[in-house]
Amino acid sequence: MSHPSSEFAVRNPILPGATLGVLGSGQLGRMFAIAARRMGYRVHVLSPDSDTPTGQVADVEVRADYLDLDAVASFARGVSVVTFEFENVPAETAAAAERHAPVRPGFHVLHTTQNRLREKTFLRDAGFPVTPFSPVRAPGDLERAVAARGLPAVLKTADWGYDGKGQKTLRTPADVAQHGPAFAGAEAILESFIDFECEVSVIVARGLDGQSVAYGPLWNEHRNHILDLTTSPAALDPKLAAEALEIALGVCRRLELVGVLCVEMFVGRDGRLMINELAPRPHNSGHYTIDACVTCQFAQQVRSVCGLPLGSPRQHTPAAMANLLGDVWSPGPPRWDAALAFDQVNLHLYGKLAPRPGRKMGHLTAMADTPAAARERAVAARAALLATGS
Ligand SMILES: Nc1ncnc2c1ncn2[C@@H]1O[C@H](COP(=O)(O)OP(=O)(O)O)[C@@H](O)[C@H]1O
Ligand SMILES: [Mg+2]
Repeated sequence: MSHPSSEFAVRNPILPGATLGVLGSGQLGRMFAIAARRMGYRVHVLSPDSDTPTGQVADVEVRADYLDLDAVASFARGVSVVTFEFENVPAETAAAAERHAPVRPGFHVLHTTQNRLREKTFLRDAGFPVTPFSPVRAPGDLERAVAARGLPAVLKTADWGYDGKGQKTLRTPADVAQHGPAFAGAEAILESFIDFECEVSVIVARGLDGQSVAYGPLWNEHRNHILDLTTSPAALDPKLAAEALEIALGVCRRLELVGVLCVEMFVGRDGRLMINELAPRPHNSGHYTIDACVTCQFAQQVRSVCGLPLGSPRQHTPAAMANLLGDVWSPGPPRWDAALAFDQVNLHLYGKLAPRPGRKMGHLTAMADTPAAARERAVAARAALLATGS
């Protein structure tokens, strides 16, 4: 490998003025690029698309298929470090990039978290609490898994799921018969359906020297399996909150993560935590950190992948984030002025051209004296966006 050892890298951080490469060109890359440019870095992005949310704010936008390994190699030669905002970048792509520049987080983190079965098996074997699950690989496995887990249960494709895509809740044997066949032919996972009290996440940034900082736990509310609202701090029993932080920090240590990782968890009705999934990058539930924390999750990604000291994750004001999906455009053009008339509300839009229903177009962050008031303000500001009447 042409790049230096990690000990050398800790002593020789990648300093402002250098060029950072990001694989994937959505909103997470955009906010990474903004944070990087604010600190004086240049940013190159590679993805199969053009005029992307990331490309619009990057110095250079390379349009290439992830499997065009020559393009990936030349991209990596032009940057000091490669990171990603999209964890479904093919393994070959990360491997090709790694021959020319350090890839952070490393290939093994990507590999583990790309596949739900691999991820849950890794977590379970390492002793972390996870949603009970069974693999579904061959004919007959689904019936055996249903017998083992019981109903209701959630069937998910092992690869490529996001925002609830590639998953189905099975409540009755008739559901199993009806929806099972659609999952045949690809590896899948059957999870017990968790009747949770609430969902929380913890976002950890970990540096090259092993130093780590955490945000959360954050309270997440989903609608149609897509994150709808995040409130921070979460109103959680302090013991449980401490446990959630410890689990997330433990996972990052175990993965030897360099970068940012989100741990999504369910809080069961019995007060037990279970990990639902990992995302080895900044996360939608951490967007509030841009407005409400000393150092945001994207600036931490910059610092960690560059081998620099991490910043303080301290939150200076209670905050809530409301996602803006394409649906907000359905009644007519959103009334941005109405939302921005709210006190302590900031608007973030991702530069996407087509506001399709379910598509993440942007978010609002609201701040207030209490988390509950921030949540209420975020919801009210979002409601004010909707064009009504003429
Ligand atoms: N086993 C489960 N029990 C109950 N709800 C679930 C389960 N798995 C997923 N969900 C719900 O669906 C949402 C999305 O599922 P998740 O596994 O996080 O996939 P994605 O990769 O699409 O985010 C979760 O945040 C949760 O609300
Ligand atoms: Mg999820």
